[in-house]
This record gives sequence, structure tokens and C-alpha cells, in this order.
Amino acid sequence: MREWEKWQEWSNEYIRVFLRDDVYGVEHPMRKEIRNKIKDLGVKTLLDVCCGPGVDYEGLKKAGLDIDYVGTDITSKMIESCQERFPEARFEVGDIYNLNFPDSTFDAVICKDVLCHLPDYVTPL
Ligand SMILES: C[S@@+](CC[C@H](N)C(=O)[O-])C[C@H]1O[C@@H](n2cnc3c(N)ncnc32)[C@H](O)[C@@H]1O
Repeated sequence: MREWEKWQEWSNEYIRVFLRDDVYGVEHPMRKEIRNKIKDLGVKTLLDVCCGPGVDYEGLKKAGLDIDYVGTDITSKMIESCQERFPEARFEVGDIYNLNFPDSTFDAVICKDVLCHLPDYVTPL
């Protein structure tokens, strides 16, 4: 594991900065692209696997998209930060290798900037 991938050791302040960051924040072109796709496809229920500090939820909210959203992440500090910032949404601690949602629970699933950090990225797919 690389030093900066020790997610549980990130400070609350760093998590908040990450959320606002120009590079990784809501205006990142990839995040915009994901939002556009979600809008175009008419997605109404969305699972954000490994949601981190909730940046994509923030973007969806700012874009005014009415979506039933669930964010999961293995790092409890990330989830705590999300719950604090976005109490209206559902965030849960969850391991990408062991998700327990029934089939067809969601219209779409996003998993951004995650697979490259996993020891085995094939199994979750
Ligand atoms: C680079 S961040 C990306 C966060 C978010 N998807 C984004 O684009 O802003 C990677 C996230 O993957 C989470 N993660 C790493 N391994 C995981 C696992 N096995 N199950 C669930 N989440 C995991 C980390 O806690 C971290 O929040």
C-alpha cells in the first residue's frame, strides 16, 4: 500500500480539502461526464461504490439531479465525513469485495478512481 492510500489515516481536514480540490473536486471533467451520463440515462437509483468523501454526491446535488443515492466505502472516516456533510443521503461502510445489495436494486453503479488501488480489481467487476 502506498503512503497516501492509507485512507483511514487521512485527517478530517484533508478529507474536506480533497472535496474542494480543483483536480479531484466536483468540477473535474470526469465527474462532469459521469453526471451527464447519469442525467442522459435517466438514472433514478444510484450506488456509488467506494464513494470516498462524497465528491460525486456533492456534484449530483449541485446539479440538482433527483436521485436516490447510496454511497459505500470501506473507510469509516470517509463515511463519517459524508454523513456529517450530507445528512440527507445514505452512506454506509462497505467493502467492495462484499456488497450485499440484491440484484437490480440500482439503475446504475459508479466506482470512480478505485480499481487501480485494489490488490485484485477483477473480483469486484
Ligand atoms: C481515490 S479514492 C476515490 C473516492 C471516490 N470514488 C472519488 O472518486 O472521489 C478511493 C476510495 O476507495 C476506498 N476503498 C479502498 N479499498 C476499498 C474496499 N476494499 N472497499 C471499499 N472501499 C475501498 C478508499 O477508502 C477510498 O475512499
